[in-house]
Amino acid sequence: MKLTVVGGGSTYTPELIDGFARLRDTLPIEELVLVDPDAERLRLVGGLARRIFAKQGHDGRIVTTGDLDAGVEGADAVLLQLRVGGQAARQQDETWPLECGCVGQETTGAGGLAKALRTVPVVLDIAERVRRTNPRAWIVDFTNPVGIVTRALLQAGHRAVGLCNVAIGFQRTFANLLGVAPADVHLGHVGLNHLTWETGVRLGGPEGADVLPRLLAEHGDAIAGDVRLPRPLLDRLGVVPSYYLRYYYAHDEVVNELRTKPSRAAEVAQMERELLTMYGDPALDEKPALLAKRGGAFYSEAAVDLAAALLGGGGSPYQVVNTLNKGTLPFLPDDAVIEVQAAVGPAGPAPLPVGDLDPLFSGLIANVTAYEELALEAALRGGRDRVFRALLAHPLIGQYDYADRLTDQLIAHNREHLAWA
Ligand code: G6P
Ligand code: MN
Repeated sequence: MKLTVVGGGSTYTPELIDGFARLRDTLPIEELVLVDPDAERLRLVGGLARRIFAKQGHDGRIVTTGDLDAGVEGADAVLLQLRVGGQAARQQDETWPLECGCVGQETTGAGGLAKALRTVPVVLDIAERVRRTNPRAWIVDFTNPVGIVTRALLQAGHRAVGLCNVAIGFQRTFANLLGVAPADVHLGHVGLNHLTWETGVRLGGPEGADVLPRLLAEHGDAIAGDVRLPRPLLDRLGVVPSYYLRYYYAHDEVVNELRTKPSRAAEVAQMERELLTMYGDPALDEKPALLAKRGGAFYSEAAVDLAAALLGGGGSPYQVVNTLNKGTLPFLPDDAVIEVQAAVGPAGPAPLPVGDLDPLFSGLIANVTAYEELALEAALRGGRDRVFRALLAHPLIGQYDYADRLTDQLIAHNREHLAWA
């Protein structure tokens, strides 16, 4: 089997490589291609990747290339983990929204819209090239904002699935707290990418007993600490919101925090410099501990699991993915992309039914879905007015004067990445 990682020069790649090496029985890779425009990163990351494979006795071939078309040719699956504009663009996304008192974040709010506008055209171009060489290849998208990017891919008819590590993170945390194996924890996970709630925690599978009330009663403080929201709020909600809900439920508090501390982009840029130096050390043959300070814990497990299920080699029968709604959440359009549990196999994901949702959650999901639809319109067709409409629709923006100012800022800071601006 051949797998290609676009954005293979990312400092995250050793995380994936480590997963591919450890889980090689689930996903037997013969050739792994890392594609990246940055030759120096490819040299450093590719070198470490080969040492990790060698140390773990994986005999798969690792190829590095700057040539996208050659890299994706004949691939069974293509993983997208690129970042248009790098951490410098992220730094902007996290900064200018704060001037209006709005949250500055790489996937949520105005910064997330900027990232979507930069990213969607690039990803669609890559997907077209993949389809030209191998129309049956699966595209697994980790590239943020995953909900909007996956919707763009599916709308263009690609065989794509969006992936995020929030759910697998909860699965591991809950398994630890309960003293069971992660595979025995089946989450009731519902919403949109980076806008999800754990509405149930079932043991053994979708029909198992729901232990969420017990988990909250016994470990509520630890869970609240993890998602950085107050314990009493979790008790009142009766579900576990992901830490991305903090940008909504504690918006002003977060804005105040963000105004006073260095941006996450700056922290990550510093970590990336350190990581790349480490990767250049020929004695290093495993992923360094510093990598665990990135947000992407367990990405590799989720990616291996998903690729294995899509390519027919096994993997968990149920996985949390980003896929078409198709009636799963009846209050959303069929072509919206949702993040839910799905049965995954070679035919792709089929979402499991989701029970009735409290309007407290469905209202916000519907609102952000409308924003995502408008965001995708803006990303595909460009124009100041489309950007304004998306920002006006966003529940964290909403006022016309903010939307106007943020539109101007977004365009000013992203001109070099926007063909229409
Ligand atoms: C989580 C999210 C990812 C996001 C990451 C950011 O893992 O699920 O979508 O990219 O956090 O982590 P970072 O270390 O870049 O701040
Ligand atoms: Mn994510």
